[in-house]
Amino acid sequence: MGNRTFAMIKPDAVESGKWGKIIDHIIAEDYKILGVKMQRMSEAEARAFYAVHKERPFYEELVEFMSSGPSVLLVLEKADAVPAWRDTIGATDPAEAAAGTIRAKFAENKGRNAVHGSDSDENAQKEIAFFFSEAELILNQ
Ligand code: CMP
Repeated sequence: MGNRTFAMIKPDAVESGKWGKIIDHIIAEDYKILGVKMQRMSEAEARAFYAVHKERPFYEELVEFMSSGPSVLLVLEKADAVPAWRDTIGATDPAEAAAGTIRAKFAENKGRNAVHGSDSDENAQKEIAFFFSEAELILNQ
């Protein structure tokens, strides 16, 4: 298992101001933040980032939402980062997310669900590279 994952604080949580509390949660759970930037995805970027979902009925809604305002993009380091971060954020639908997880605490619904996390090491590498060059990451500095 790799020690990096890609995380995103989505436009709902940035717009509502909850993103500061989410950063606190990330630091409190001992993730090392290797990279961070705030960026509004273009529609084309949102389409490309979520291309794996393009046949799903919610794809257009997802693209519209993810390009509606800025997101906070993060590269996180921790042992077994992908499963660790998925545990930290909880289930996609906040109604099903375990108590204390980021989505249980901060998400509105299944679409506006506050945060994203990579679902595999392979996708973590691809998603990190989608937004960050290796030179932008803080490595043991
Ligand atoms: P995320 O982890 O970013 O990966 C894909 C996203 O699609 C997911 O979080 C949700 O925000 C969104 N999504 C998944 N299922 C639905 C749904 N039924 N309706 C709307 N959005 C959804």
